[in-house]
This record gives sequence, structure tokens and C-alpha cells, in this order.
Amino acid sequence: MPTHPYPAGDVVYTKDPYQKRAKAEGYASRAAYKLKEIQQKYRILRPGHWVIELGSVPGGWTEVILQAIGSRGGLICVDQQPMRLPPSSGLLFVQADILGADCIDKLATVVPHQVDVLLSDAAPATSGISIRDSARSAELCFAALEISRTFLKPGGALLVKIFAGYEQVFIDACKGCFQKVRRIKPAASKKRSREYYLLCWGFEVAGRAANSKEDNSN
Ligand SMILES: C[S@@+](CC[C@H](N)C(=O)[O-])C[C@H]1O[C@@H](n2cnc3c(N)ncnc32)[C@H](O)[C@@H]1O
Repeated sequence: MPTHPYPAGDVVYTKDPYQKRAKAEGYASRAAYKLKEIQQKYRILRPGHWVIELGSVPGGWTEVILQAIGSRGGLICVDQQPMRLPPSSGLLFVQADILGADCIDKLATVVPHQVDVLLSDAAPATSGISIRDSARSAELCFAALEISRTFLKPGGALLVKIFAGYEQVFIDACKGCFQKVRRIKPAASKKRSREYYLLCWGFEVAGRAANSKEDNSN
């Protein structure tokens, strides 16, 4: 007999304080609190910043970003799913697969100039097979890095979600393009989840031409 902690027929009810807070405070998702915590500690977003956000649906981060950059800033959201946009003048949405060959070209038509920060909360649909999920997460991270290489200002920052497992190659590639790379697990990120975030500061222009193979040769 399998030993299941809950007898058959019982409703398993988990009280997620972040979910309740998101509902009470009007955020589109509990994920907002992950970015809020990172922002409170590291102040990566400033008034007037221009930002690209990858994996933006349903929009919890979008609201936090808009609050931080204010009316002088600009935000370009990207997701493969359609997005309901909060009302804001400095906000654009591009529906695109960030792994797609045409994603950078699509972005180039709407991004008016280089941006200060690139954020990616993009995540694969999980299969439960941790090695597979980690490899697919790393693939999304490399796409985010490629987009950073195209659109980030010198000195700009990248914040990217990654699943533990196959991440070392990606971390090494980031070290080849940024001055500092830090691993962050916000309190709102569920402990049992293999996700965490990499915050990379100080984009170096030499990183634009680099490719991941060269980065990993050091
Ligand atoms: C965890 S959700 C993001 C939550 C969001 N940051 C928020 O605060 O509400 C991950 C998102 O990544 C998107 N995504 C996954 N793979 C993608 C891809 N290849 N291209 C674009 N978006 C992708 C999914 O559609 C999903 O909306």
C-alpha cells in the first residue's frame, strides 16, 4: 500500500500566504513578491529605466516593474501567451517565443534604444523530471542572455530565473559578460522548488560579441 499523507477523499488545503497577499493587494500573481524582495534588497530598477521583461504572463512582475520605473520609464513585455496589459503609457507587449529564431528581430522593431535592465521569469512547463526541466530552463536562460547581448546598455543588469541542475554552463557564460553574478532564492520562491534567480550586474560591451563556448573556455 502506498503511504500517502492524506487519507483518500480529504481535501488538501494549503494556505499560501503570498497567494493570499497577491489577491488582497491586487497583483496578477504571487510571483510579484519574488521581484519585490529582490528589488527591495538590490534596487536594480530605478525611476526612468527602460526594461525588457521575458515570460511576463500573467503580469505580477509587470506591475512591480511599472511601479519602480515610474512614468518616465519604458517596459517591453514578452511572452509566448497573450497578455492582458495593465493600463500604462510606457508599456508594450510582444507575443513571441523567446527560443524562436525571429524573436530578436521582432524585438528590434519595437525596442527604441538599449535598455537598462532585462528580467526573465520565463519557465518551461515542468515535466516532473528534474534533469529535463533544468535543461529546458537553461535553454530559456541562454535565450535571455542572447537578448541581453543585443539590447542591454553597457553596465546594465540581467535578472534571470533558473532551475538547479544544468545551470553551471549558463553561470559561466554570464561571468563572461557581466562584472558580478549573484545567486538569489527569494522567500516567496517555494522551498521545494528547484528555481532560483541569478542577478548579473555590470554588462560589459565585450560580452556582446562573446558566445557561450568562448565564455566557458576560461
Ligand atoms: C512563471 S510564469 C511568469 C510569471 C510572471 N513573471 C508573473 O509575475 O506573473 C513563466 C512564463 O514564461 C513563459 N514562457 C515559457 N517559455 C517561453 C518561451 N519559450 N517564450 C516566451 N515565453 C515563455 C510562459 O508562457 C509563462 O507565462
